[in-house]
Amino acid sequence: MQPALSIRNLSKTYASGFTALKGVDLEVQPGEIFALLGPNGAGKTTLIGIVCGLVNASGGAVSVHGDDIVTDYRKTRSIIGLVPQEVSLDAFESVWATISYSRGLFGKSKNPAHIEKILRTLSLWDKKDEKVINLSGGMKRRVMIAKALAHEPKLLFLDEPTAGVDVELRRDMWAMVRELRATGVTIILTTHYIEEAEEMADRVGVISKGEVILVEDKVALMRRFGKKRLELELVEPLAALPASFEGRGLELADDGRRLVYLYDTQAERPGITSLLADLAAENIRFRDLETRQSSLEDIFVDLVRDRT
Ligand SMILES: Nc1ncnc2c1ncn2[C@@H]1O[C@H](COP(=O)(O)OP(=O)(O)O)[C@@H](O)[C@H]1O
Ligand SMILES: [Mg+2]
Repeated sequence: MQPALSIRNLSKTYASGFTALKGVDLEVQPGEIFALLGPNGAGKTTLIGIVCGLVNASGGAVSVHGDDIVTDYRKTRSIIGLVPQEVSLDAFESVWATISYSRGLFGKSKNPAHIEKILRTLSLWDKKDEKVINLSGGMKRRVMIAKALAHEPKLLFLDEPTAGVDVELRRDMWAMVRELRATGVTIILTTHYIEEAEEMADRVGVISKGEVILVEDKVALMRRFGKKRLELELVEPLAALPASFEGRGLELADDGRRLVYLYDTQAERPGITSLLADLAAENIRFRDLETRQSSLEDIFVDLVRDRT
């Protein structure tokens, strides 16, 4: 099967001389939800802009379902949907006209039933005759999404889809993304919100300073970098760890009131049973115990920090 998106050695240096992308390679398979995660200024919007034909690459090649984005521009553009980071709409058009017109731009025949379905899914149906200028910010974001879906794209880009949107829209959007995926649409979203990647993506790519520094299956990523943290709340504070506990990855915290143990979830035997037995033998008692798995956030912070 052809990848939905294939990017080879892509680079971009803006006219200012600033290099926003440096030799990016990336492949996304049909039907995947891929999250491109990176801090502000990492190059996410630049990358999307190139794939959508809004920004010219300085080097490298991009193909969408096997077609080159430069030589087969019309074809690739017609199967891409883009929800840009910034809202841009014709203020005096109605919602219905905005969406229908967008479909027409891609040379697709009229399909009122499809437009109706999109508007209903995005809770825009009762606003269909409203002029864009009369809509709230959240409703305008919904219109931007509807517009991107009007021509039934196979590859959908969501650039920072939930930056500054309300909880309800975020929930609707996530539901919509899952529904689209079920129909075979490939979705690439950029975000600097880890929860978004964690919630939605099958695979995660981390981009930092114009370089994709890691691409991995989300579950595998969490497993590989994931450390579990066991915290014991002690009955009696400890001034220091007994000598027999040294070199076992234990730490005292909170003025000796808590004992923290970081262990690798990949290890065959994390040694918790023996740790608890040894604590009992030393007569160190605890009143409470909790464990926590590191989130994508912790992983991301570690990754980006390691590069600077
Ligand atoms: N038109 C432009 N001219 C010069 N520099 C730009 C232009 N557009 C973006 N940049 C710079 O390129 C870098 C990447 O920007 P962008 O792709 O928007 O990042 P992101 O979407 O990850 O926040 C930023 O440092 C930004 O200032
Ligand atoms: Mg951006």
